[in-house]
Amino acid sequence: MSLDWIASQGGPLRGRIRVPGDKSISHRAVMFAAIAEGTSRITGFLEGEDTRATARVFGQLGVRIEARAPSERIVHGVGLDGLRAPDAPLDCGNAGTGMRLLAGLLAGQKFDSVLVGDESLSKRPMRRVTDPLARMGARIDATGDGLPPLHVHGGAVLRGIDYASPVASAQVKSAVLLAGLYGDGRTRVVEPHPTRDYSERMLRAFGAEIEFAPGEAVVAGRPRLRATDVDVPADFSSAAFFIVAAATAPGSDLLIEAVGMNPRRTGLLEALRLMGADIAIESPREQGGEPVADLRVRASRLRGIDVPVALVPDMIDEFPALFAAAACADGLTTVSGAAELRVKESDRIAAMAAGLRTLGIVVDERPDGAMIEGGQARGGDVDSLGDHRIAMSLAVLAQRASGEVRVRDVANVATSFPGFVELAGDAGLRIAPVIPTA
Ligand code: S3P
Repeated sequence: MSLDWIASQGGPLRGRIRVPGDKSISHRAVMFAAIAEGTSRITGFLEGEDTRATARVFGQLGVRIEARAPSERIVHGVGLDGLRAPDAPLDCGNAGTGMRLLAGLLAGQKFDSVLVGDESLSKRPMRRVTDPLARMGARIDATGDGLPPLHVHGGAVLRGIDYASPVASAQVKSAVLLAGLYGDGRTRVVEPHPTRDYSERMLRAFGAEIEFAPGEAVVAGRPRLRATDVDVPADFSSAAFFIVAAATAPGSDLLIEAVGMNPRRTGLLEALRLMGADIAIESPREQGGEPVADLRVRASRLRGIDVPVALVPDMIDEFPALFAAAACADGLTTVSGAAELRVKESDRIAAMAAGLRTLGIVVDERPDGAMIEGGQARGGDVDSLGDHRIAMSLAVLAQRASGEVRVRDVANVATSFPGFVELAGDAGLRIAPVIPTA
């Protein structure tokens, strides 16, 4: 069923909040624990639709996963060769990470499998993973356009390759490394720009033989993976909506607790600071081998900037939120070098440009970015196109609009951020769900 929000000017954001667990780490924790030997306990697991879909897929592959308490999973790993043939297609839902990483992992199995997804995922490019996996000897069929569903043929003999990826993508890197676990010899991936290294860190923690540095990773085939507990930090990308909301709502002083601060994720902080945001990093510490910190965000006047292209991969999921900040800033913000945004859960450049324009903000769309002239947003009727991050970003911008904003098609917020509306309400935002009658 379709769901909309009515969002309107809220008060300052105050108090302390904690956002749910990291999506990227939650996916990987389930996957690696499933093919390790022994029982792993995952805490801080994201109870989102994307990560639950991944857990369900491993259930279909014969892995027993217990959910004894919210945000906890006990995964009874079956070892590298212990997965069993599924008796139905594996539904990854909305999750690009789920499907692309599973393509790599399933390429090395003895059995056939089929990966399917929802309407949005069914439009997302898969050649970026099927091409390098084919070079390793995998046999995966996609549609003629390189789209899902993916038919992964079992019984392929994989060999390690040396792969220079043309895209800066942690999903591509991880898919190749996962196939590399099943391959002969070593598999090396070099990236055009370093991306999040959760697969590398976690594979090492599970006992794989892996060397990595920013932009490069080499894994040895046929390791014995050992069960390991994973404590998932809070998702920086979910915190991002509250960071922008607090930075732009006059009088705000908000503390966001224990946020994952992996440097490959926190480019938005740097961009917002260049815009004049007041964000303090408090009590930096480690959680489960990842840096975390409390973020204290106070409102300030933001000014437009040219977002440094070097920051783009480190804030790739945060551009919808950045567009909302740019709409509230004085002057022009320019985004370039971000063409990848066009193949996310929606075309995020087009989706945000359309939303901002409806609310009276001047946007000049470019193939690889946009120019956004900050101004006073007005009320209006905007469409998230079923993209969770577009929905939350437009609701954040609505907090500064002069009239009511209807944000359409927001149900997919549950893929990454269950409880967003309630938490937003606690923090001071005004967002009310409405179920359209027609
Ligand atoms: C992710 C990698 C990024 C990111 C996505 C999660 C991951 O995608 O946008 O939300 O968990 O590896 P790309 O690899 O396509 O850049």
